[in-house]
Amino acid sequence: MLLVCVVCHVFMLVLCLSADEDFDWTKNEHSSFYYGTFPTGFSWGAGSSAYQTEGAWDKDGKGLSIWDVFSHKNGKIQQNETGDSSCEGYYKVKDDISLMKELKLNHYRFSISWPRLIPTGIKSEHINEKGIQYYDQLIDHLLENKITPIVTLYHWDLPQVLQEKYGGWQNISMVNYFNEFANLCFEKFGNRIKYWITFNNPWSVAVEGYETGDHAPGLKLKGTGAYRAAHHIIKAHAKVWHTYDTQWRGKQKGLVGISLLGDWGEPVDINNQKDIEAAERYVQFYLGWFATPIFHGDYPQVMKDFIGRKSVQQGLGTSRLPTFSSQEKSYIKGTCDFLGIGHFTTRYITQKNNPSGRSSNSYFIDRDLAELVDPRWPDPGSEWLYSVPWGFRRLLNFVKTQYGNPMIYVTENGVSEKMLCTELCDDWRIQYYKDYINEMLKAIKDGVNVKGYTAWSLLDKFEWDEGYSERFGLYYVDFRNKNKPRYPKASVQFYKRIISSNGFPNQREVRETKQTTKTKSVSFFISLFLLEEQRSTAANILRLIHDPLTSHMEMVTEIVVPTVCTLSILLSAIFLMFLLRRRN
Ligand SMILES: *[C@@H]1O[C@H](CO)[C@@H](O)[C@H](O)[C@H]1NC(C)=O
Ligand SMILES: *[C@@H]1O[C@H](CO)[C@@H](O)[C@H](O)[C@H]1NC(C)=O
Repeated sequence: MLLVCVVCHVFMLVLCLSADEDFDWTKNEHSSFYYGTFPTGFSWGAGSSAYQTEGAWDKDGKGLSIWDVFSHKNGKIQQNETGDSSCEGYYKVKDDISLMKELKLNHYRFSISWPRLIPTGIKSEHINEKGIQYYDQLIDHLLENKITPIVTLYHWDLPQVLQEKYGGWQNISMVNYFNEFANLCFEKFGNRIKYWITFNNPWSVAVEGYETGDHAPGLKLKGTGAYRAAHHIIKAHAKVWHTYDTQWRGKQKGLVGISLLGDWGEPVDINNQKDIEAAERYVQFYLGWFATPIFHGDYPQVMKDFIGRKSVQQGLGTSRLPTFSSQEKSYIKGTCDFLGIGHFTTRYITQKNNPSGRSSNSYFIDRDLAELVDPRWPDPGSEWLYSVPWGFRRLLNFVKTQYGNPMIYVTENGVSEKMLCTELCDDWRIQYYKDYINEMLKAIKDGVNVKGYTAWSLLDKFEWDEGYSERFGLYYVDFRNKNKPRYPKASVQFYKRIISSNGFPNQREVRETKQTTKTKSVSFFISLFLLEEQRSTAANILRLIHDPLTSHMEMVTEIVVPTVCTLSILLSAIFLMFLLRRRN
């Protein structure tokens, strides 16, 4: 048994080293790296959502959600997988909080399952006490461990009854049902929760749930379904914000925001006005669709213009984009105490005139643009997820200028993997986090008001229509094992290091803190690291003269990790020989 372990260990490390060579695109342009630390009090976290991690889909009185029903239909999810048990997070609150403590997280972002609290979705019908108890203990354990909970109210798991009876988000009645659910959460948990997120990524809910049908509830109401769903979601968000503002804020003193996903769109030709406009349109149809009403009271002008014109060309009397009354506009405007930003990737955008016949009814056609990617962009995991760190800084600056520099929490950022053999040696994830977090630091230096960052995600989990085929976790989850054990990937140590140094301190800062550090509990790993660091100090001083942004963090990935890997292999080999000899 022990022998098998050792062999596995060696095997993994060999993979770790060879993976280094496979991924030499991770070598960044050194000059573009920005050394510095984040503002004091910057909050570091990781995230998850209920349906993706909890499992226990039919336990303790939970009602069905649209995702339970959708994933049980064959042909909807990769390998026909479901979230029935997923990570069994429902039973592993203490285990998972110990993983968060290992990372020294400041906050943890999770979502409350609406049908776990209210099985039919309608509060007056039934409240499930067991569901309340589950979230109570989760919140209490987090607080006992000094981890701030950031709670999402809607992470896509609408109670199935509301879908069947009313058509889900197609129906305006969702606004009141959602408000009652949110109000219940404020009542039960609000004494302990200071950060509320009404909706996670409503773009996906609208477009993938009601336009493409790739997500639950799987409807394909092209050209109208997404706009109607979004319209009701925006109203529901505003209503919940007002409920909190008038009934709870005085006592509970928390904040209510929304979490929006936005890819960045960069013009293919920055000298071509049409491309510049198309790229702006891409971002406005994505992030602006929700952010502009919430910050300015109405949809982006470019959406009203384009969808309106296409509707006329199709012979429709009114625009397929619903309108807000002036009363609604002032009710919705300003309903955001902080803005959650989810960001993963970037596209190049060029102008493209789409045909506008009767049959060309679609959100995508309405935008009149084409999306392109640079084949040199790394795409280690999901098909859609190219690593383009500079897009993150641009998106954050866009938010700053468009919406009056709001308080921002990055609520999702991370990368998946498809390579099974290197699952614990995720050096491309380390590179992704390093580059994206660095671009966020640059954005803060640009004046963007980012207060916190949430790595997506804490664990590998159910990835919606992709099932378990894509892994976003800092921790690897063995889904084949009934106990769903978690194992740290290499990125855990890396992220932990960023958190403990609050960013990327430069050489001088590191030396100063080293001199003042009194603790003598220097592990083997650290002493090894210092040794390497001293050896390269001379080289670094020389480099400092030419380039003040020397590569401290690079040393971690390029010197320390390989050194530790090599040493581990040596030790393992010696151990192996020792074992073999004993058997002889
Ligand atoms: C999933 O379900 C579809 C539709 O019933 C079926 O064709 C397919 O073979 C199933 N896939 C797996 C991996 O079971
Ligand atoms: C909304 O639900 C009500 C009650 O079931 C129903 O009468 C109405 O037709 C629904 N509206 C839409 C747009 O589905």
